[in-house]
Amino acid sequence: MTSRVLMVLVTLVGCIQAADKYWDYIVVGAGPGGLQMGHFLQKAGRNYVLLERNSVVASFFQKYPRHDKLISINKRHTGKKNTEFNLRHDWNSLLSDDKSLLFRHYSKLFFPQRVQLLDYMADYQKKLGINVQFHTEVSNIRKETNATTNKTVFLMDDQNGNTLKCKVLIVASGLSKPVKPTFEGREFTENYSNVSINPDDYEGKTVVILGRGNSAFELAESIYGSTNFIHMIGRSRVRLSWATHYVGDLR
Ligand SMILES: Cc1cc2nc3c(=O)[nH]c(=O)nc-3n(C[C@H](O)[C@H](O)[C@H](O)COP(=O)(O)OP(=O)(O)OC[C@H]3O[C@@H](n4cnc5c(N)ncnc54)[C@H](O)[C@@H]3O)c2cc1C
Ligand SMILES: *[C@@H]1O[C@H](CO)[C@@H](O)[C@H](O)[C@H]1NC(C)=O
Ligand SMILES: *[C@@H]1O[C@H](CO)[C@@H](O)[C@H](O)[C@H]1NC(C)=O
Ligand SMILES: *[C@@H]1O[C@H](CO)[C@@H](O)[C@H](O)[C@H]1NC(C)=O
Ligand SMILES: *[C@@H]1O[C@H](CO)[C@@H](O)[C@H](O)[C@H]1NC(C)=O
Repeated sequence: MTSRVLMVLVTLVGCIQAADKYWDYIVVGAGPGGLQMGHFLQKAGRNYVLLERNSVVASFFQKYPRHDKLISINKRHTGKKNTEFNLRHDWNSLLSDDKSLLFRHYSKLFFPQRVQLLDYMADYQKKLGINVQFHTEVSNIRKETNATTNKTVFLMDDQNGNTLKCKVLIVASGLSKPVKPTFEGREFTENYSNVSINPDDYEGKTVVILGRGNSAFELAESIYGSTNFIHMIGRSRVRLSWATHYVGDLR
């Protein structure tokens, strides 16, 4: 009886330790940034994993841009043979040694569809054998120094209470942060993330769009035919990306 209890205990302890997973490198996020890092870690033969909370890579593009059309142009021809030069005109491809993993093979559209970028990113991960653990949401990142070895490790939890450890932690969890307006009446506004993209919902309406960037024009263009008027309000004049050479300005 006692030895049985002991055995169960030993098994339990074993389980708890097995849940403490270790990698030399952990990358949080399997968006374009994480994938690019993943490729170089894979190529260098490192012990690594990408932890991604969603079920696909580059999941941002499952929802955004909301009207399907990318603003990152697909410049398939430049008139030049120089790979470096051509890559500098390519807004969508990640770096690799595999010539088939260039976005130009995934779309002929100048403004491609986001599903084409999703296909490309999925192939990039699979063909290059990048190690991604999906359905893993990282939180509670902390640092611990082992008193005996004096070595520092990063610890973090997933949503199932597992502890994950690594020597080097790379956070590639994305940048976008919504701008919340502060003016009185802001509670009556709708935002880009949740606003309806069905033109029928705008039939005969007068619509005010705050902002004059890509998201603003994306919405305006799609509902234009249904509305009475669209007013667009911005704090500065429209800046066109072909003029400023900044991709974030208006395409
Ligand atoms: C409205 C809008 C439209 C855009 N349109 C375009 C476009 O048309 N073309 C273009 O090239 N770029 C576009 N961009 C820019 C593009 O979204 C970013 O440049 C790109 O997504 C950045 O890649 P990333 O890997 O750094 O981050 P992300 O793509 O945001 O990837 C981060 C990943 O980390 C995961 N993650 C976050 N937190 C955790 C966590 N705690 N645990 C586990 N996983 C986590 C997320 O699920 C996500 O998959 C647009 C941006 C916005 C805001
Ligand atoms: C510290 O490192 C030693 C040697 O690798 C190991 O035996 C010990 O379990 C570690 N301590 C903790 C708290 O992780
Ligand atoms: C542990 O490492 C730190 C930082 O590298 C160093 O300053 C410290 O002297 C080390 N302590 C011991 C006991 O080796
Ligand atoms: C956007 O709108 C949704 C639905 O109305 C709301 O839940 C969310 O908090 C809003 N987000 C921002 C950043 O205002
Ligand atoms: C609004 O969109 C965000 C981002 O996609 C989402 O997390 C949230 O659940 C949505 N809110 C509503 C009320 O639909």
